[in-house]
Amino acid sequence: TNNPKAVIVIFGATGDLANRKLYPSIYRLYRNGKLSDNFAVIGVARRPWTNDVFRDKVKESIDNFDDPHIDKDEFASHFHYNPFDIQDLEHYQELEALIKELDGKHETDGNRLFYFSMAPNFFGTLAANLKSEGLTTTQGWTRLVIEKPFGHDYQSAKELNDQIREAFSEDQIYRIDHYLGKEMVQNIEVIRFANALFEPLWNNQYISNIQITSSEVLGVEERGRYYDGAGALKDMVQNHMLQMLALIAMDPPIKLTPEEIRGEKVKVLRALRKLNENEVDDYFVRGQYDKGMVNGEELPAYREGNGVDPESNTDTFVAAKLMIDNFRWAGVPFYIRTGKRMKRKSTEIVVEFKDLPMNLYYDKEHETKSNLLVIHVQPDEGITLHVNAKKGDYNASSTPITLSYDNNSEDKMNTPEAYETLLHDCMRGDSTNFTHWDEVALSWQFVDVIANAWSKKKADFPNYTSGSNGPEEADLLLNKDGFEWWDVKSE
Ligand code: BG6
Repeated sequence: TNNPKAVIVIFGATGDLANRKLYPSIYRLYRNGKLSDNFAVIGVARRPWTNDVFRDKVKESIDNFDDPHIDKDEFASHFHYNPFDIQDLEHYQELEALIKELDGKHETDGNRLFYFSMAPNFFGTLAANLKSEGLTTTQGWTRLVIEKPFGHDYQSAKELNDQIREAFSEDQIYRIDHYLGKEMVQNIEVIRFANALFEPLWNNQYISNIQITSSEVLGVEERGRYYDGAGALKDMVQNHMLQMLALIAMDPPIKLTPEEIRGEKVKVLRALRKLNENEVDDYFVRGQYDKGMVNGEELPAYREGNGVDPESNTDTFVAAKLMIDNFRWAGVPFYIRTGKRMKRKSTEIVVEFKDLPMNLYYDKEHETKSNLLVIHVQPDEGITLHVNAKKGDYNASSTPITLSYDNNSEDKMNTPEAYETLLHDCMRGDSTNFTHWDEVALSWQFVDVIANAWSKKKADFPNYTSGSNGPEEADLLLNKDGFEWWDVKSE
């Protein structure tokens, strides 16, 4: 078969991400026939677990999958546990021996995938030791999957990257941005480049503005300690939001190779208008949630959260107007917005087209509306095209109608989980949906200016109620250009 073969080594195997995302994803690949029997997983972490304890945890993590034809014990038997101290070089020798043994047993052709799913301050040491102890050389391929956060500013990201690059070459490194594994984010390219309908209009002649929103209902929950040092700008904008923006704004690549696509994305990031510190307030709005009612429950303010400084100046919300200074997009604002404890969990991209030069159908009762293309990333997956048409009337007036495609309607269960797709891509050696260092570097350089400006000025926080749409300034940001957030307008 063409199914990938590998020994997968997960560092941070007892952690939350491994439990919630990685084991279920490996299971789904297995169940869907995307993994042959030629695979083994080695869980690595400090705790002194045994194989049996580990396998039980793995089985727990896939408890809610009900597949009578799958033998879960058989699946779990591919998992092995290796207690590990990152500083202790002897442990690397033991790990090497275990990898070799499993490679022989499962005939994985010497392929090994290292997955760093743990606190990033260990990434450098771990990479260096893997190399010095000979674990990165094998007769098959060696790849590294690395989780966010990739640094907390450009400088730290660069240091981290330099350390990792001592041990792995760029083409061995797969930096995760799990938004790139989402079905509808991957669909952006297909919608744009497989239709005659959109690409000719995809520019400043026909598009008035683009809005990208990713809102969450949850607060920072148990992640206060990490989050309070990061904030929405670094946690969401630097990575997920700028990646979606790049995919929406890029030129068509000449081929669908990772290099060509990345090249186009990099050009967008390079064209992002650089702001001076004193312009930041005209383009960026920051927010922090106050207490409020969410789904009938009164929830506390961000500052009251676990691990959060009671006077924290950290942003849990960002809205921004981004300008892409190139021929295609000159003059078209890209509005982005992301926040925690908002009204609903949803990620959506809205492309608003300019109005026609004149409107033949204007009358007081029937209003012609701007054409919109809405890409629903989550929780619903699909596309809605808003157009105007005649609808059951005696006279020739026009009414807004929608044409929709619902990506979930056929079989919700078949929509691949982001991590499932990404793991599979990595095992096949396809880095298209991972972020290259060039993209990471440019994104941090852009975000650093904003973060610096903000760090010099204390914000008037908290400034939005939990369960709301964010601070009022986020609406004004669009209103002063004559636009409105699409969800506000359609309410
Ligand atoms: C992560 C952020 O990268 O993305 C989290 O660290 C955020 O703070 C999450 O909640 C959102 O992902 P999703 O897939 O739920 O939209």
